[in-house]
Amino acid sequence: MKPVRKAVLPVAGFGTRVLPATKAVPKEMLTVFDRPALQYVVDEAREAGIEHFVFVTGRGKQAIEDYFDKAYELEATLEAKKKDAILAEVRAASLPPGASSFTRQQAALGLGHAVLCARDIIGDEPFAVLLPDVIVKGNGRSCLGQMIDAYNEVGGNIVAVDEVPQERVNQYGVIDPVTAGDPTGSGGPLVKMKGMVEKPPVAQAPSRLKITGRYILQPEVFDLLATQTPGAGGEIQLTDAMQRLMGTQDFHAFKYDGKDYDCGDKLLYLEAFAAMALANPELGAKARAVLEDVLKRK
Ligand code: G1P
Repeated sequence: MKPVRKAVLPVAGFGTRVLPATKAVPKEMLTVFDRPALQYVVDEAREAGIEHFVFVTGRGKQAIEDYFDKAYELEATLEAKKKDAILAEVRAASLPPGASSFTRQQAALGLGHAVLCARDIIGDEPFAVLLPDVIVKGNGRSCLGQMIDAYNEVGGNIVAVDEVPQERVNQYGVIDPVTAGDPTGSGGPLVKMKGMVEKPPVAQAPSRLKITGRYILQPEVFDLLATQTPGAGGEIQLTDAMQRLMGTQDFHAFKYDGKDYDCGDKLLYLEAFAAMALANPELGAKARAVLEDVLKRK
């Protein structure tokens, strides 16, 4: 079984749900407490052992490329001023030489189309997809790390899922588990599926298990994406191509141990910001006091 070495990060979206904040700043670069949202996602992938990062960008996203590059002037200045702790953090944010590729999605045709743009760079090997407007905090091991552990046992294709309130199922890809009441069948995290559907009407959703934005896919998905017709919202949907892939390859859903934070929505972004502040090892306790104080005010 080929290992999962590369990850695709589709970062071309406009961030319409959080405008005007994203008018001139890529939504992936919005600060979540002390670092850009995208940094959490890249760190998750690194922890999982990903060696190469493929960013599918678009116009106006140059800040992303700069962020993961070396910042010579900044680093030299910090070094001269002996600001060693900050310097170490700045350096840790850049990616090693040759570990990143940037390609542009020229038109906003959908997530499936964005992933297809990475086809040549990925080549003929399994790969991960991480949607950067979702920060996933794994308990212990990162979400993608947990998925790669599962992949190393069962192979095939895997999507991360977790439960969402019924009234919100229409905002996500939703899976159709084989065993309704006990979706895992075994009580374990791997869920067998009959299908999946992108943004179903609330009354027609096959379950409350939404696709979280973390995927491990086999390269055969690219042939399907290349012929995929537009689906929900008139966009080329990754979910639709995965539904077709299920016809020929093993496909599991994976109930990861952790919690996701969607930074692409104003109120959920607030939740993400507060949660990352509270989870900060040095400043978490002080952040809690600040938040409690704000809540006490009229
Ligand atoms: C995308 C996917 C969807 C998934 C969601 C997770 O939707 O198409 O299947 O559930 O991300 O956040 P989007 O949020 O881009 O509309």
